[in-house]
Amino acid sequence: MEKKKHRITFHPGKKAVLAEEKDSILDAAASCGIHISSPCAGRGTCGKCVVIVSEGITKGVKKGNTYLACKTHPLSDLSVRIPDNSSTGKYKILDHFHEIKKKALSGKNAGIALDIGTTTVAGFLVDLKKKHVVGTASAYNKQVVHGDDVLSRIDHSRKHGVEKLNRLIVETINNVAEELLEGRRNVMVTDLCAAGNTTMTYLLLNNDPSVIKKNPVLDEYKIPYTANASKLGISACGRLQTLPGISGYVGGDVVGDVLASGMHKSNKVSMLIDVGTNGEIVLGNREWLVACSTSAGPAFEGAGTLCGMKASSGAIDKISINENLKAEYRTIDDERPEGICGSGLIDLVAGLFLKGVLDHNGLFADKRKKYVVVPKKESGTGKEIALTEKDVKSIILSKTAIYAGAETLAKIGTPLPELENIYIAGAFGYYLDIEKAVTIGLLPDLPRKRYKYIGNGSLKGALLYLTDAKKRREADAVAKKTTYYELSGDKTFSREFLKALYLPHQDASRFPLVEKKLS
Ligand code: FES
Repeated sequence: MEKKKHRITFHPGKKAVLAEEKDSILDAAASCGIHISSPCAGRGTCGKCVVIVSEGITKGVKKGNTYLACKTHPLSDLSVRIPDNSSTGKYKILDHFHEIKKKALSGKNAGIALDIGTTTVAGFLVDLKKKHVVGTASAYNKQVVHGDDVLSRIDHSRKHGVEKLNRLIVETINNVAEELLEGRRNVMVTDLCAAGNTTMTYLLLNNDPSVIKKNPVLDEYKIPYTANASKLGISACGRLQTLPGISGYVGGDVVGDVLASGMHKSNKVSMLIDVGTNGEIVLGNREWLVACSTSAGPAFEGAGTLCGMKASSGAIDKISINENLKAEYRTIDDERPEGICGSGLIDLVAGLFLKGVLDHNGLFADKRKKYVVVPKKESGTGKEIALTEKDVKSIILSKTAIYAGAETLAKIGTPLPELENIYIAGAFGYYLDIEKAVTIGLLPDLPRKRYKYIGNGSLKGALLYLTDAKKRREADAVAKKTTYYELSGDKTFSREFLKALYLPHQDASRFPLVEKKLS
């Protein structure tokens, strides 16, 4: 007997879809291309997939006057409103690439360089003859409905097979390619090059990524793959190459970062830190390289905190605390504030710590329950935007994972004060205020001029790999020679982790410039 289906109409946009009672509203939305924020991949724990059911009967989990889309099912036709906060549609891709102007191609052949991120996919259209970028485009990775991090994607493909996630990433790439080629007639894409973490690379190639969880160290992660793009369903046909990775948790995106930084060619030792849900760290020089991956948690990407949100319109991305201990802030697109994104949260904790509102333990010195950044009447959601001690704890855990990872590599390689440069990568990179990041103990307290932003190194690396045979050889050599250092179970890492669980650190002598500001 055919199962009863209900019509769900989503607003804004009035897109409608038929769904069975076993389907959640989150699944129904995804099936018609609407993406609702779902950092916990529908486990019902993050509370970010909030929707308003304005008409119809449902069975599900209520949150105030709203419902959790992942835990709510239709029992009749429904009318569902997705609040801006829950929508992933307005994500702001934070990079300077948007400043690159669209240019004409010198011939008919073009290449596409791609950064396949867990959250976003960014691409360059490349004039292969002149070897320069003639266009840029980016899109949300459609896989985000199945969780924000690689572990959720691995779990999804283990339970439901790889095909669905493969289809979603191919669709995303096709959207990016379509935008890159818009208005350009008779252009033939002959080569594509993609840099992504190992899970994204596997899913793109339609390979099962479950092996990564079972065995993060395998030679096969270090191989650059070549495939026929059209056989994978990519509309821009041609040869697709993927950058080789280092391990299951340090992928081709990080090899791209290294290539873009040039640290693998220097005699002096440098460190590279890619800040994201996973912090990837590489240390070394032309002789040797060692890399690790540390799970920073979702706080810097807007999840895991009460008022955290992704860097989209209305997110507070810069905050300073004035003499009256009031927050002065800026929002993306100058919209009314709806929440605080990663860079804003780092600013906020750093500002409150320097003003003595937060103590070394991340607790409110005056025993208040929360710090209100935006009162109810000024916020774009009608709810106040505030920071609690629980939020501070989650930010401290994230920063600690990255700092302890950096310190552990430095202990087995070269001490932090001796580093020539510290390269900061990741889309978050350009927007990370180094001073504030050092203040909370996320980055080491080293002379600020040693810090260099490289922005989206993964995309820059993919571009170099696509256009320059010498760089291709360099990247393949970087992947081969970099040693992966496993942090879980490592005694030095555990020790460093415990010491770093403070603002900025238990050992004040490691943060002399921050201490000076406090005195
Ligand atoms: S609570 Fe629904 S996706 Fe996290």
